[in-house]
Amino acid sequence: MTSAHPDESVAFTFEGRTLSARPGQSIASAILQSGTPVLTRSFKYRRPRGYTCGYDICGNCPVTVNGLPGVTSCTTPVRGGEVVRRERGWPSTDRDLLRATDLLVRFVPAGFQFRLFRSRPRLAHLAEKVMARIAGAGRFPTPQAARAVRTRTEVDAADVLVVGGGLSGCAAALGAAGSGSSVTLVHPGPLGGRANARDSVVTYDQETAPAAELAGRLASAVLAHRDIRVVDGRVMSYFETGLIPVVADGLVLECRPKHLVVATGSYDVPGLFPGNDKPGVVLADGVSRLLRVDRVVPWRRAVVMTDGDRGSALADQLERAGVEVVAIVVQEGVGDPSEPRPGSAGRQADGDRVLRGTVRAARGARALRAVDVEVEGRVRTIRADLLCVALAPRPANDLALQQQYVAAGTPQAVVGGWAGADLSASTPGLSVVGSAAGWTSEDPDRARAVGAAAGSGQGK
Ligand code: FES
Repeated sequence: MTSAHPDESVAFTFEGRTLSARPGQSIASAILQSGTPVLTRSFKYRRPRGYTCGYDICGNCPVTVNGLPGVTSCTTPVRGGEVVRRERGWPSTDRDLLRATDLLVRFVPAGFQFRLFRSRPRLAHLAEKVMARIAGAGRFPTPQAARAVRTRTEVDAADVLVVGGGLSGCAAALGAAGSGSSVTLVHPGPLGGRANARDSVVTYDQETAPAAELAGRLASAVLAHRDIRVVDGRVMSYFETGLIPVVADGLVLECRPKHLVVATGSYDVPGLFPGNDKPGVVLADGVSRLLRVDRVVPWRRAVVMTDGDRGSALADQLERAGVEVVAIVVQEGVGDPSEPRPGSAGRQADGDRVLRGTVRAARGARALRAVDVEVEGRVRTIRADLLCVALAPRPANDLALQQQYVAAGTPQAVVGGWAGADLSASTPGLSVVGSAAGWTSEDPDRARAVGAAAGSGQGK
């Protein structure tokens, strides 16, 4: 098999059209580039959904690839020759007649069938069937696609399981292996996490180069280490028996490590306003990924919504990519957003377009057309095809919470005790590092020390 040169383009078929992409560019980004913002429809009310998070978190981008449904298009690269289809919508994803359910939402609110058919169980059963049919993603893989995804199961015997291969995860894995433990590190895609991904497109963000360089060095050291097994895959969950299944390409790993190190980074959080699920409303990391990794710029005019300094950084990136940033909406109560950031070019101009206010709504039928912003009691409608939501991220510590829940045996112990707490301090066999632990800056030495303690059996 010959592989394409990075500068060559590869072609794939999208609903009868031939689209081209750079090798490695995500399927979602190539579809967006072709002028198609709607990637799917929501299950129940059939609201249009599009590229949102860029990191397989939100579930807004599943497509069918070569007969296999439910493929996450924002993280699946184009290899060339694929046949890609969207999955929901009748007669098409762009024009879905079942969208009427959203317009009639007053008459069919959530759980309406339970009230409507309360005294008619047979009808209720029938209605459930019809709704399941309408709502379900509902297609099985074709026989060929099912054959292509056959998997084998293997038991992983490593002492330490590190989940997350960003800067902190790599450092922790090296620390654990350095103290004599066998280590399995699970991470989807190239090691180094988002910092490393930025390395390949430093044109857009020179400031991340030091973190990217360091992440690259740590990733190389991990890959070269004979006691660290690197698995390109994802953890499914933490089960009661201590089982942590890992799903990789053609492989399911059964892991029961003596020590779990959670290094899963952080999530962007969505803004709370009507229309926040509309195609064109994109979370900050998703915007960065499209610009830096996929090198696709599908927008012309952007509004950036922020509660801190991330908004200015995103505005910089968008402008360098040729997008006009018409407003930076800063939530009330945040420090002075027009203060120049260290190393940030052109910040003096920010004063003109910074609006202290609140995003009230995202407008547009199928995709974003305008943003309503309330400033000093007046609502302004600003035309834009991108609303970049750059709010403070939250730790992606779900796996640690699951482990803690299993250890505690009661959800109350977790719900009452976890907020702002150091999860690893109270749970034997668990460590949390990096932004998953709420660290506000990268600290590879600290992560390596935590990994070393985990590997030597001292870690908590
Ligand atoms: S999961 Fe693909 S855009 Fe969120």
